[in-house]
Amino acid sequence: MAEQIEVRKGLVGVYADESSVSKVMPETNSLTYRGYAVQDLCENSSFIEVAYLLWNGELPTAEQLAAFQAEGRSQRALSPALMRVLRDFPKDAHPMDAIRTAVSFMGMEDPEAADISDAAQRRKAIRLLAKIPTAVAATNRLSKGLEPIAPDPSLPFCENFFHMVFGKVPQPEVIKAFDVSMILYAEHTFNASTFAARVVTSTMADLHGAIVGGIAALKGPLHGGANEAVMHMLKEIPSPEAAEAWLRDRFDHKALVMGFGHRVYKNGDSRVPTMKKYAEIMAEVVGDKRWMNTSAVLARVMLAEKNIHPNLDFPAGPAYYLMGFDIPMFTPIFVCSRITGWAAHVFEQAADNRLIRPLSLYNGVEQRPVPTR
Ligand code: COA
Repeated sequence: MAEQIEVRKGLVGVYADESSVSKVMPETNSLTYRGYAVQDLCENSSFIEVAYLLWNGELPTAEQLAAFQAEGRSQRALSPALMRVLRDFPKDAHPMDAIRTAVSFMGMEDPEAADISDAAQRRKAIRLLAKIPTAVAATNRLSKGLEPIAPDPSLPFCENFFHMVFGKVPQPEVIKAFDVSMILYAEHTFNASTFAARVVTSTMADLHGAIVGGIAALKGPLHGGANEAVMHMLKEIPSPEAAEAWLRDRFDHKALVMGFGHRVYKNGDSRVPTMKKYAEIMAEVVGDKRWMNTSAVLARVMLAEKNIHPNLDFPAGPAYYLMGFDIPMFTPIFVCSRITGWAAHVFEQAADNRLIRPLSLYNGVEQRPVPTR
């Protein structure tokens, strides 16, 4: 009997459900959100329009966008109780642990926390989209002994984030590069963190619980944590000239090279060319080509020697570094974006729910008697 059972470790190749949120087409290295190519969305729309698209299935009209933006802008502030909690976090807490805890706290404070009707879940999702960046920026500043900066409701989403982190809004090229990264990070089918959020939702637990599960899964270096690992790796390489020898040493030690490889894309990640373009714009703006030059060597040798392509984290890591963000903020920034994809999947899972509960093939000791004493 047992030999007829096929165990798909890591659920490789398993279709766990249907979804209309996004589509990955590895054969053409392409990705669409609700039918729109992601690179076209990057060039023609903003992250907030994409958030609306993911949640509603269509891009917003001007009126719908204005209402969506106004709702978000009015929800950015954190409660005094949450601010006190953030101040009490250990100074060396990892920002992903901080944001995971902050979202959990937001759930306890939310007046609709336990209401899992579609309308309430959507209202809560807007609150999370608005408040998570405030918590990410505040915990970053507090960890450095700086006072948090209150959100500015007169500023658009990305401008407000820079304002809360740095106290100023950078030039439009930087805002555009950041906005593009947010669009590219927003959604990616049944990745590990999205699947975690769907598993939590399938038990009929609430939205905050699902998002906390997503954040916990995203932290790992095999998933979202890779954008931080990429930058640590680039900083370890003394110069672009030294990159090839450094990489060959990694090969000799059979070590993973962060920012390369993907479970679904085996011939290149659809998001990389767009993010690379904007990382290069950032290198121009800042006047520092070292990271992109080192990256180019790594990408060339990885392809030639291992036939492995870079993933989105590879250009996103140096782009965020060039924007001035501290490395431990990179994955929390990913959270600010992916809340949109997670929530879209929570709505979809809840609308046609079935408890997610696979089987395991037992390989432990045979049944045996408990020793009598
Ligand atoms: N560096 C070195 N070798 C890699 C590699 C990497 N980044 N990614 C894959 N490989 C190798 C594997 O060692 C394996 O080799 P083998 O067949 O000789 O054992 C082969 O390529 C196939 O990889 P596999 O681990 O089966 O792919 P996966 O689908 O299970 O894993 C990742 C996908 C993303 C977990 C994996 O590529 C990885 O760990 N990448 C680095 C972390 C990262 O950038 N994560 C962000 C993902 S968006």
